[in-house]
Amino acid sequence: MGITKSKPDESETAENSTTEEKVEVPIFDRPITRDYDIKKRLGQGNFALVRLCSRKSDGENFAVKIIHKKRLQNNKQQKALQREVEILNKVDHPYCVHLEAIYETTNHLYLVLEYCAGGELFDMICQQNHFTEQQAVQVVRQVTEALAYLHSLGCVHRDIKPENILLEHRSPDSIVKLTDFGLANHLDGSDLVFWTSCGTLYYAAPEVLSTDSYNEKIDFWSLGVVMYVLLVGYLPFYHDNRVKTIELIRRARVPFDMADWRTISSEARDLIRKLLVFDPVRRYGSTKILSHDWITGGTAGAEPLNLQKLKEFESWRGNFNDHIITMMGLQRWKQYALEQNPDVSMAGMTSESEFDFLGMGIQDGIDAANDEAGEGEGKAVANTYE
Ligand code: ADE
Repeated sequence: MGITKSKPDESETAENSTTEEKVEVPIFDRPITRDYDIKKRLGQGNFALVRLCSRKSDGENFAVKIIHKKRLQNNKQQKALQREVEILNKVDHPYCVHLEAIYETTNHLYLVLEYCAGGELFDMICQQNHFTEQQAVQVVRQVTEALAYLHSLGCVHRDIKPENILLEHRSPDSIVKLTDFGLANHLDGSDLVFWTSCGTLYYAAPEVLSTDSYNEKIDFWSLGVVMYVLLVGYLPFYHDNRVKTIELIRRARVPFDMADWRTISSEARDLIRKLLVFDPVRRYGSTKILSHDWITGGTAGAEPLNLQKLKEFESWRGNFNDHIITMMGLQRWKQYALEQNPDVSMAGMTSESEFDFLGMGIQDGIDAANDEAGEGEGKAVANTYE
C-alpha cells in the first residue's frame, strides 16, 4: 500500500521535492535511520507505536509514529491511515501536532511528528502535583479552538481522550497539542453526517453507540467527558461491565457528587451539562463553549484541585490497555448489537459475548504494537528499522 503517487528522489529535500499532487510534507523512500536516530518509546496507539527520534542534521527532537503496513489487514484500516496522512498534511494550527516528514518502506510507514516534550496532559498534572480550575479553563479553551479549526477543515477528530491531548512543554501551563488523527474522518458540506464509528468507549457520545448518524458534535461530548475527569479525577459514565457503561452513556444523566464538586465553580458544572447533552443539536459547539461564563467569566478558582482521584485514574488507565475500542471492535459491536436486537436494545448482550467481540479488535492493535516494541522501553534502537 502506497501513501502517495510519487515520491522525491533520495537526494531531494523538503525544499525541492516535487510531486504530481500538491503534498506539503516530503515523503522519502529511504530508511528513516539515515536521517533520524530512533530512541525511546513514547506511546502506543491503536495500530502504531510512537517513539522519540532526533534529526541527525541538527539534533532536533521529533516523535515518530511507526505503522506496520502489513498489520493493516482490511480496507477500512488502510483508508483510516490514508485519511490520517491527508489530514496531517492539511493541519497547521498551534494547538494541533504538526507533521514534519513521511518515510515509507516496503513494510513500514513512519510519520515524523512535532515532539511534545510535556507528554500527555494528565501524566504531567500528576507529576507536577498541582493543577487549578483556572488551568483547566485554558486546556478546555485550547482544545475547543483546535476542534473548531479541525471542523472548519471538514474533519471530525472522533477520538478525543486524555491520551490524545499532549503538552508542548514540561509544564501544566504549556499550550496543548491535539494528536492522533488516525480515526478522524473527512466531512464535506454535502456529507456532514457519516456512519463509520470508532473511538474509546468512555468518551464516546451516545449517538456513536447507536446506529444513528453523527457529526462533529461527537468531539464536544468527548471534550465534556475529558473536562469532567480533569476536574474531579473520575469518569462520569463508568461501570466495570462495558454494556452497562454503554447504557449509562445512552441515558446521559451526568452525576455530580457534591462532595467532589463543592470546591469547583457552578459554571464548570453548567458547561459540562451543556456538553454532555444527549441531543447533538442541543449540545454546545465551539462558539457557545468559547463564550460560556466558565471560559470568559473569570469564575474558575485558583486553588489547587484535589488530585488524589486523578492519580488513581491515571494508574487505572495505565493498567488497562483493553478499554480501547478500535474502529474494528466498535464496528463489530454494532453488527453484533443489531443482530441481537434490531432496535439496538442491550438486553440480549451477555458479558461473555461482549468480551469476545471486544477482544478481537483490540488484540490486533496490541499485537501490532507489541511486535514493534520488542526492543523494550527507554532503550535506544539504532538499526532495527528499515
Ligand atoms: N506521544 C504520542 N505522540 C507524541 C508526540 N508527538 N510527542 C510526544 N509524545 C507523544
